[in-house]
Amino acid sequence: MNHKRLNPGYPAVRLRRLRGSKSLRDLFAETSLSVNDLVYPLFVTEGENVRDEITSMPGQFRYSVDRLEEELEELEALGINAVLVFGIPDSKDDAGSEAYRTDGIAQRALRRIKDLRPKIVAISDVCLCEYTSHGHCGLVSGEEILNDQSLDLIAKTALSHAQNGADIVAPSDMMDGRVGAVRRVLDDNGFEKTPIISYAAKFASSFYGPFRDAAGSAPRFGDRRSYQMDYRNAYESLREIELDLLEGADAVMVKPALAYLDLVRRAKEAFDVPVAAYNVSGEYSMIKAADRMGWIDGEAAMIETLTSIKRSGADIIITYFAKEAAKLL
Ligand code: PBG
Repeated sequence: MNHKRLNPGYPAVRLRRLRGSKSLRDLFAETSLSVNDLVYPLFVTEGENVRDEITSMPGQFRYSVDRLEEELEELEALGINAVLVFGIPDSKDDAGSEAYRTDGIAQRALRRIKDLRPKIVAISDVCLCEYTSHGHCGLVSGEEILNDQSLDLIAKTALSHAQNGADIVAPSDMMDGRVGAVRRVLDDNGFEKTPIISYAAKFASSFYGPFRDAAGSAPRFGDRRSYQMDYRNAYESLREIELDLLEGADAVMVKPALAYLDLVRRAKEAFDVPVAAYNVSGEYSMIKAADRMGWIDGEAAMIETLTSIKRSGADIIITYFAKEAAKLL
């Protein structure tokens, strides 16, 4: 600290004075977590009467469209106002056609959500990887993941989500130019008011493991390092964010959260736009696993984690802990 000290420090200064009781601590807390900040990811699958626990994500479920009602009711009762929808289709092909079909799984889920609970903000994850047979986020030629040829399909998917009720679309594929492509298609079709949360700084990460299990979206060959970011790079993440903002993103995301909190802070300070952080599947499952082993207090670790994400500057936290946290807040 370089501001001038008013006194010589201890014993005149004792920082413990403001930590003396819970009420004092609460009064002077710099950060507060609110249920309004939380977004709950929802996995929606084909079939009927499905409520299938995801093995690698204890406490998280895949729901069929007809079972969404009970889940939405619980979310609303807990005060959670936003969901992030992931569709898990039955059939996949090279071009991910189920991603942009009017009666695709995400589209039906979005219609149902808006039908049942119009006040819940339905954010849709826009990506092809759950829908392509090769599991990559774009079209593939040989071993190459094609950029420009994928943009049309990604934009088409976003439009189809908006047409079926998505309040916000969130492209997560990391192709160059996708935010602009999505913005143009939305604007050309009367959805100029639909916001985009861009997964702007999304890193190739080992922390997505449980999600890929849940969504069956692991790549069949290679990995995602030719499109998702290299975790050694911070300045480049700021360029990704800046470009997405220039292309029309309304809010930007850093993903994963915990190993990247420095970038959440830098993004917030550099651009002062709404920043979302995605507390991803691996971050959730690590706490759950350690809690189950009796090695940490899972509940305390959860609140500490979510508070640290907020403290780092995130305005919005996407987290599988949303329901559990809401119960404690
Ligand atoms: C789709 C997508 C992924 C996640 C969110 N959207 C997986 C990936 O990029 O492989 C990961 C979410 C999580 O791990 O919780 N591209």
